[in-house]
Amino acid sequence: MKSHIIGYHTTQFGELWDKSLFDLVEESILGVLKNTNIEFGDIDAIFFGNMLGGILENNLHSGAKIADIFGLTMPIFRVEGACASGGMAFHLANEYVKSGKGKTVLVIGAEKMTDVQPEYITQGLMSAASGEEQESGMTFPGLYALMARVYLKKFGYNKSNLAAVAVKNHMHGFLNPTAHFRKIITEKQALESSLVADPLGLLDCSPVSDGAASLIISTNPTLIKKRHHVKVLSSQVATDSISLLQRNSLIELKATQIAAEKAFGESKIKRSDISIAEVHDCFTIAELFAMEDLGFWTKGEAGRRVTQYETLRDNNGPLIVNTSGGLKASGHPVGATGIKQIGELYVQLTNQADKRQIKNVKYGLAHNVGGSGGTAVVTIIGI
Ligand code: COA
Repeated sequence: MKSHIIGYHTTQFGELWDKSLFDLVEESILGVLKNTNIEFGDIDAIFFGNMLGGILENNLHSGAKIADIFGLTMPIFRVEGACASGGMAFHLANEYVKSGKGKTVLVIGAEKMTDVQPEYITQGLMSAASGEEQESGMTFPGLYALMARVYLKKFGYNKSNLAAVAVKNHMHGFLNPTAHFRKIITEKQALESSLVADPLGLLDCSPVSDGAASLIISTNPTLIKKRHHVKVLSSQVATDSISLLQRNSLIELKATQIAAEKAFGESKIKRSDISIAEVHDCFTIAELFAMEDLGFWTKGEAGRRVTQYETLRDNNGPLIVNTSGGLKASGHPVGATGIKQIGELYVQLTNQADKRQIKNVKYGLAHNVGGSGGTAVVTIIGI
C-alpha cells in the first residue's frame, strides 16, 4: 500500500525556556491538525520520537501523557533511537499504515534540552554511546573530532574543509524562520570559533536546542487528495556497532551506507534524481561523511567539494543540501530532528517553502543518524 505525507508542522527551534517538553508536543500536534484540517477522529495512532525525556526529567510513559493532554484512547508509541529517534518514529509510523494496521497516523518528534546545565545534557547525550566511551570521559564532540582527525589526515585536508559546511548551513538557516540560528557566519569566524574538541570548534557543532515537529502520514485516498501530498518512496533503517572501537573504519558510517543502498533500491530512483537532501550534520565532519556514505560523492571527495559550495542554494547546482539550515543552524532538538528533516523536504516538494523555496524539486532524501553512527535512517520522498 502506498503511503503519503499530507501535512507538517514545526515549532520554533531554539532556547525555549517558557515551554516544557509536553507544551512543545501539544503545540506541534495541534499545529499539524490545524494545517491539515484533520481531527483526532481521523488519526489511528501516534508515534512519538524522543530521546532524553526519561533521563533529563524522569518523564517516560509518554504515550499516556500525550493521551492525557488530549483525552485520547488510541495507541501511542514512544520510539527511541538517540538522535535518530525522529527518523525511526517516522519509519515505524510509515510501516504501520503500509501494513494496513491503520490508515492515517501522526508522527511527532520532540526534545527539551535547554533547561539543564551543559554538563548534564552532555552526559545525557552520552547515554547513546558505548560503556567504554562513557567511562573514558568522551563526549559526542570528542567522538566526531576523533573521526574528523583521521579523515582530514588521510585525505590531506584541514579545518577549512570543515568550516565550509558551517558557512553554507548558516546561510540556509538565515532564510528559515523557525531555525535556532538565523545568522550568517564567515569562514574566518568558523575557523576562529573557540575550540570544543580539536579540530572541531563551536561553529563546527550543532547546538543544544528545544523543539517539536509533526507529520501526518496516510493511505486514505479521500484525505490525501484534498491536501498537499507527497509519496513516501522508501524509509530504511540500519544499525552498526555503538562503539568507535569496534569499527573497521573511522572515515565512514556503515549504517548510512546500508540504509542508503536499501532506500535507493526500494525507491528505484537514482542519486542524480535527488535535488534536495537534509543530511545529518550534527558536526561539520558528519556532513562530509553523509555526502560520501549516501553515495552522492566518492570517499575522500567531500572535503574538496564542500569548499566549492556546490550544494549551496545560491549556486543552483543539481543537489542542494540542508535548506533548513541543517542541524548546525536550524538546531538539533534530538528527537525532533528526523521529523523536521522530512518536513523540510515535504514543504519544498509541495512549494510551501516561501523564501527558501527551491524550484522544480521532485525527489528529496532525508538522512538521520543516532549517536556516532550506531543507527541510520534514510527516507526518500517524491511527488
Ligand atoms: N553554534 C553556534 N553558536 C552556538 C552554538 C553552536 N553550536 N552553541 C552555542 N552557541 C552560541 C550561543 O548562542 C551563545 O551565544 P551568545 O553568547 O551570543 O548568547 C554562545 O554560543 C555560548 O553558548 P553556550 O550555550 O554557553 O555554549 P556552550 O559552550 O554551553 O555549548 C557546545 C556549546 C558546542 C558545547 C554545545 O552546543 C554542544 O554540546 N553541542 C553539541 C551537541 C551534541 O553533542 N548533540 C548530539 C550530536 S551527536
